[in-house]
Amino acid sequence: MAPIIRISDAKDYVGEIVTVRGWLKRRTGKGKINFLRVRDGSGIFQAVAFRPNLGDEIFARVKSLTTESSVILTGEIVADERAPGVPGGYEMDLKDVEIVQIADDYPITPKDHGAEFLLDNRHLWLRSDRQWAITRVRATVIRAIRDWLDDNGFMGVDTPILTPAAGEGTTTLFEIDYHGTPAFLAQTGQLYNEADIFAFGKVYCFGPTFRAEKSKTRRHLQEFWMVEPEIAFCKLEELLEIEEQFVSYIVQTALERNEAELKLLERDTSLLANVKPPFPRISYDEAVEMLDEAAAQGITVPPNNEPLQAITWGQDFGAPQETYIASQFDRPVFVTHYPTIAKAFYMEPECGRPEVCRCADLLAPEGYGEIIGGSERMSDPDLLVAAIETHQLPEDAYDWYVDLRRFGSVPHSGFGLGVERTVSWISGIHHLREAIAFPRVLGRLNP
Ligand code: 4AD
Ligand code: MG
Repeated sequence: MAPIIRISDAKDYVGEIVTVRGWLKRRTGKGKINFLRVRDGSGIFQAVAFRPNLGDEIFARVKSLTTESSVILTGEIVADERAPGVPGGYEMDLKDVEIVQIADDYPITPKDHGAEFLLDNRHLWLRSDRQWAITRVRATVIRAIRDWLDDNGFMGVDTPILTPAAGEGTTTLFEIDYHGTPAFLAQTGQLYNEADIFAFGKVYCFGPTFRAEKSKTRRHLQEFWMVEPEIAFCKLEELLEIEEQFVSYIVQTALERNEAELKLLERDTSLLANVKPPFPRISYDEAVEMLDEAAAQGITVPPNNEPLQAITWGQDFGAPQETYIASQFDRPVFVTHYPTIAKAFYMEPECGRPEVCRCADLLAPEGYGEIIGGSERMSDPDLLVAAIETHQLPEDAYDWYVDLRRFGSVPHSGFGLGVERTVSWISGIHHLREAIAFPRVLGRLNP
């Protein structure tokens, strides 16, 4: 019996008869020859069905195959540079086909369907070449995240998803009923991470986080995955060095492991190749000046080429401002020292200049915007209590969090990297909804 192999391993079986189990993407050809484009999860290749070799009965079976029919193919692996597919370069000279199921009329065709139809059929759309490639890039990104952190002294500690209070502002909370007590889906694991560093030094949590974002944008999901490292005895400057090493490793690993997927996505990877430390650092003040000048010159920004608006000091940046700032650099850029009023309650104020805080957002190039938010955390209990009051947060719920500053407080810092934003950037896709298998965007819960 022929060995059962996966398409990604075809290169190791040239000249051998093997079996591949998968699904038919497309059947073309006429007369004596049919080309079957087949995928098996690991890759995509072509099987060539030639009637004189197969005989009439098997060839008739081939001709009965519809798109998405499940099949077991047996044939010889042939190396051919021109053979299409992922990774490409190998095809199958078909000898036999076993039909597992003839698929019904498949609703997704090569025509342009529109986003809503595709999202309604996300359970099927996932099989498409582009979606397959993006989801594989995501798996690489997630593995690279864990590898880098585990190899650099961070310990994974899981944080709760059911929480009693806001971690990241009260405007985007999903409230649920915790047996009669109001509770919230976690917006962040950070506050718990901060407790964990006092036990373990360097930690990270990595899981789904939830934001009831009221607006529909291509950069916001209701449910997204975030990795959050947190480090004891770490100030902002050191934090940025960790972030640039971390992000560079993720990007370079994806370039290395997903070359074929990125090619399928037609991603121009030249800019990604630049993503190596050090990343430029500018302050919020410098960024505001940069925006003032550009707005005065009437500069427009993609994707809609609207005129760039200057902002008043104190406001956070919107997508156009982030896009413009990032476009001035050839790799991701840190913007540091945002106005304290524009940021979360827990950020350490800058010494001698409390109107700005010791934080940094990392902006990705090419219009992908903020991929990381991070900061030094307030380490003084009294300052923290005052900040909780200023932000009108319920003091009782944060008692334990203030406690951390009462028993061996240290300077500490951490950040959160959004997985879908990172995957979108690396894959070069326009909308975050394609960067997660079953996206939760405003107004959609199915499938
Ligand atoms: O800047 P954010 O809100 O930071 C925090 O949550 C901190 N507690 C993290 C920390 O310091 N431990 O979010 C961090 C990142 C953003 O930079 C972005 O990449 C992503 O999370 N993000 C979203 N991604 C998709 N959809 C949304 N609605 C997102 N909101 C934030
Ligand atoms: Mg942020």
